[in-house]
Amino acid sequence: MYRTNDCGELRKEHIGKDVTLAGWVQTVRKFGAITFVDLRDRYGITQIVFNENLNKQLDDQPLGREFVLQVKGKVIERSSKNLNIPTGEIEVAVSSFSILNKSVVPPFTIQDETDGGDDLRMKFRYLDLRRNAVKKNLELRYSVNRSARNYLHENKFMDIETPFLIKSTPEGARDFVVPSRMNPGQFYALPQSPQTFKQLLMVSGYDRYYQVVKCFRDEDLRADRQPEFTQIDCEMSFVEQEDILNMFEGLIKRIFKDVKGIDYTEVVERMTWEDAMWQFGNDKPDIRFGMQLCNLKSPDVVRGEKEDRSSLINGANFNVFDQAETVLAIAVPGISEYTRKQTDELTEWVKRPQIGMKGLVYIKCNTDGTYKSSVDKFYSEEKLKAIADAAGAQKGDLVLILAGAEERTRKAISELRLEMGERLGLRKKDEFKLLWVLDFPLFEYSEDDNRWVARHHPFTSPKPSQIETMINNAPEITNAAEYLQHPYAGIKANAYDMVLNGNEIGGGSIRIYQRELQEKMFAALGMSPEESRHKFGFLLGAFEYGAPPHGGIAFGFDRLCAILGGSESIRDFIAFPKNNSGRDVMLDAPSTIDDKQLVELSLKIDVE
Ligand code: AMO
Repeated sequence: MYRTNDCGELRKEHIGKDVTLAGWVQTVRKFGAITFVDLRDRYGITQIVFNENLNKQLDDQPLGREFVLQVKGKVIERSSKNLNIPTGEIEVAVSSFSILNKSVVPPFTIQDETDGGDDLRMKFRYLDLRRNAVKKNLELRYSVNRSARNYLHENKFMDIETPFLIKSTPEGARDFVVPSRMNPGQFYALPQSPQTFKQLLMVSGYDRYYQVVKCFRDEDLRADRQPEFTQIDCEMSFVEQEDILNMFEGLIKRIFKDVKGIDYTEVVERMTWEDAMWQFGNDKPDIRFGMQLCNLKSPDVVRGEKEDRSSLINGANFNVFDQAETVLAIAVPGISEYTRKQTDELTEWVKRPQIGMKGLVYIKCNTDGTYKSSVDKFYSEEKLKAIADAAGAQKGDLVLILAGAEERTRKAISELRLEMGERLGLRKKDEFKLLWVLDFPLFEYSEDDNRWVARHHPFTSPKPSQIETMINNAPEITNAAEYLQHPYAGIKANAYDMVLNGNEIGGGSIRIYQRELQEKMFAALGMSPEESRHKFGFLLGAFEYGAPPHGGIAFGFDRLCAILGGSESIRDFIAFPKNNSGRDVMLDAPSTIDDKQLVELSLKIDVE
């Protein structure tokens, strides 16, 4: 038997017991004639003591870091206890040991605080995975997985696998493709998601499906994106949006409970996409804190009942505001005493290329009731007060104002709001706030392709009241600059995203399930009938055999784990992730293939 116990298991009550342990040597410390070793495995660390009678053997077979060691011995009480670790009250006095395998010196220390940089740790990921910090992340991932599976199983969902070698599924990214040896010149695509398969499973009658499944998307990578990532993918038949929202907030609440011990009893807030954009400048707002936008000027004020506040800033001959399409403000609480140096630094912050603004206007709402601003030349104190009041500012607040083109300015103020939230400590890692964002636009205009594209995917249904608008209007646009005036711009989808602390953790929709409507949707997206039959004939065909009403959602499993684990980067929660250029630096992939393979696949390479 290699071991009787693991390295995290022994406690005071085991004192006197004869045990055999096996694990990795974390540290070797010699005190006079006695040698101490920290022996590590997945479960913890146990201190091992070699007395002087083993010195001869230790001299013959010296121990090194990361050696795989087996020891036999007795559990004894430690004279100097370490109450920071669960096994810290005992140690194992060795009677005999055997080195099961040696290790070369590892390239970095395998400890919580390691000396290895990111690249080195990725290259030797199998060593990095031995570290506690990484192990904890994988454990969290496994418990999220277990919790989700339990909940879904209890709710009659069935796990059904779907293929990876398929035909393209449009989810807005590029496909990864795989050449087919048996069908020269032809390619499979790796699924961007199992979207069409789960819909086909609904047609087949498996009315509650789920899968914890890999998805592949060739897109630009960020901290929260990987080229292959995992979804908790779900679909249900005979449901309306409300059924889906209830079922899946139940899933996330269950995960909170099982994984974090949090009883999330609050009602999950809901917000329309329009309100999210209007109030937060963002379709995934972090609602753990306020600081909502004040829309001083926007081309959107003509829409709906939104208030036009441009009179507050007009007529002051301040060119920046007069010429801007959009002027947006936030009131940041309690920092009216920011110094010139601090406001200058904030101005530099918004000028960074990632934010892309030309400048920042501020109004200090001093605690003595006076107002001071960077635009005092143009606005009287009374006017400044009116703007600050509109932004909801109190005494002691600092109002920050950005002006520019609509899309960029909205995005910029939303980033600034998050940054200020961060600086003021309002985005606490251990506070979780869920939000449903509803009623997304059905279409998005692609300037590059000069056509409408599906904002979610082409299988998402329009709001029933707007189906006529879609059917009765041709998609063509004569003047790209005026796409907002096209009737398609206002069509909303039966689509929803779940947002956690400002991150999109899931998204889905109620689907189209009638052939005619699906065909009309493909036509609206600029596909000819031949093209839609060529690409999606299988789905259109299936819809003719009694497709039930259905809808679903997919959660970004890696993202959910990262947020629950309090990390920005999903890489920390993936055993073998890719770097930001999509490379696996451990495998050195992607890589070239040999000529024989190219010939078999009928491929010619056309790069230097
Ligand atoms: P969607 O494209 O919104 O929907 O994806 C669902 C969720 O997956 C996560 N996600 C990613 N995570 C890591 N890396 C990526 N590159 C990445 N891309 C997306 C996000 C996102 O919310 N088939 C539909 C779902 C449906 O309609 O049921 C779909 O895939 O958290």
